[in-house]
Amino acid sequence: MSEQLELVVIVASVREPRIGPVVADWVVAQRPGGVRTRVIDLAEIALPPDAELRPGGSARTEVSDVLAAADGFVIVTPEYNHGVPASLKRFLDWHYTEWMFKPATVVPYGVRGGLLAGEHLRPVLAELSMVTTRRMVALSAPWAYLAEGRYVPQNGEDAALREALRELTWWARALKHARHRQPFALVDWVGAQRADTDPEALADLVGHASVVGLGTGTRSGRETFAIVERTTQALVERGFRVVAVLDNQKVGELYDRFVRGEDVDIDGALRQAWGPWRTEEMRKALERLRLRNAEHPEDAVRVVGVGGSSVLPTDYERVAAMVEEAAPAEAAKIRVLFDVIRTAHDSGEHVQRAKGTHPGTPFVELAREARAIAGQAGIAHELLDAIVDHHANAIGVGYDADREERRAAERVLALRPARVVLWEGSAHVARDAMMGEHLRAELGEAYAAVHVTFGYGQAAGVDVPPPAPGSLEDVLLAAGGERTVALSNGAPAALDAPWRTRLISGVYDPARDGEHYHEVRSLRGAYDAVVFVPEITSTTMVS
Ligand SMILES: Cc1cc2nc3c(=O)[nH]c(=O)nc-3n(C[C@H](O)[C@H](O)[C@H](O)COP(=O)(O)O)c2cc1C
Repeated sequence: MSEQLELVVIVASVREPRIGPVVADWVVAQRPGGVRTRVIDLAEIALPPDAELRPGGSARTEVSDVLAAADGFVIVTPEYNHGVPASLKRFLDWHYTEWMFKPATVVPYGVRGGLLAGEHLRPVLAELSMVTTRRMVALSAPWAYLAEGRYVPQNGEDAALREALRELTWWARALKHARHRQPFALVDWVGAQRADTDPEALADLVGHASVVGLGTGTRSGRETFAIVERTTQALVERGFRVVAVLDNQKVGELYDRFVRGEDVDIDGALRQAWGPWRTEEMRKALERLRLRNAEHPEDAVRVVGVGGSSVLPTDYERVAAMVEEAAPAEAAKIRVLFDVIRTAHDSGEHVQRAKGTHPGTPFVELAREARAIAGQAGIAHELLDAIVDHHANAIGVGYDADREERRAAERVLALRPARVVLWEGSAHVARDAMMGEHLRAELGEAYAAVHVTFGYGQAAGVDVPPPAPGSLEDVLLAAGGERTVALSNGAPAALDAPWRTRLISGVYDPARDGEHYHEVRSLRGAYDAVVFVPEITSTTMVS
């Protein structure tokens, strides 16, 4: 959006001879600095025949573009028989969206100020979604105050006009920002969509698919997770039989055994999960799946970890204990190294770097050192290689997003023919990026993606402020309340454009909230639906 304000001065009178252009010249001469001004003289333009007028916008006219580009108007109009001239009313009626959500100042004139014309305009402009400034500059018999063909006011009208234009430019700037930040038509449309987060309605929207990605803008919101879980239950009712979580594959195996009724220490399993998934809410979700499966043992819902790593935090101690049997001194050295690198399972190295808690040496080097020490003691084990691989794959080290996202997608696709609900961050499940792109390429319409997002609140114990201006969440919040927005046909074209949307990761810093958004190329291209809750609270970490 350009900050440059564009004002259009409209000359309403079309008679010959007339005083209107002289008054308009005076207005233009008083225009505020830095504001671009154009004049539209109604005597100089031709409108189509009135037989073609339509409510809510007619055919384009030769000045439609000029009006559409304007941020505000000054309407210079005479009073004719206690109203505005027909030429002006006709001109107003010939345009519609060009006027909307813009301000106007009226400069009426007549024998005694032409105020009846000015006041006549207010309800007309209001109907066109315009704001009329409180200040009007009413000129009494301007034809009596001419010098060399120019209007020379005698009664302080110069100052009155400057004040009115100050008011006009304030509105023009404010409304320009508002039109850009939250286009009313879009807010209005969003506000007319489902005002709830009913899981059945969402499942109806995406239940046709064979894989549904339920993405969240944060993994640490209780309400957003609840939407994912409840929608998953509704999808299970519709035949989905696998919940794929982008987490450690071994953790997924433990979850799977748990939900199928095996005697698994679920808290122990959760403590090995990737940090943000290590929550009470996840445990309750798994317990509910276990209860459901107990009733349908022949038709169980499975849980699968589709993340890249198969190293558990407890694997470090397993390796150290193994080394200890053969070489206690080496085991002690290995434990020192492992104590450092094991922390990457709580928060990744890139998060530790962002928070200033990273010790410096890349963990993959410490992992290789541990493997070398074990090697000297004559111990080689695939777990040691897996640990090295795990850290070699860290974000900012050797993490190859394309490769990892493709592999995660392949793990999901390998679960077919079962129908799969995928729990991940919204950026990963989007149909046009990351793993969602691979799923879309393989499955076409049989892959559906949902973006579950929020306005403000608490995530991971951090206060998240209201959303940044112009973001998707900003528009959703402006529409008021909970919302389920289907992005199928019928959604406004604005949703095909790029949108910035919240992305709260481990490196989130509320003081720089504006930097924690990611851009989707097209909202409709990325997701089948967006679900929104205004406020979230933090999930509870498993102790
Ligand atoms: C059809 C017509 C109706 C008018 N009615 C009014 C009126 O109601 N009140 C008024 O103060 N002046 C009225 N006037 C006088 C105008 O204020 C004056 O003619 C003025 O110059 C018109 O502006 P213009 O020359 O830019 O067209 C009327 C003039 C015309 C032509």
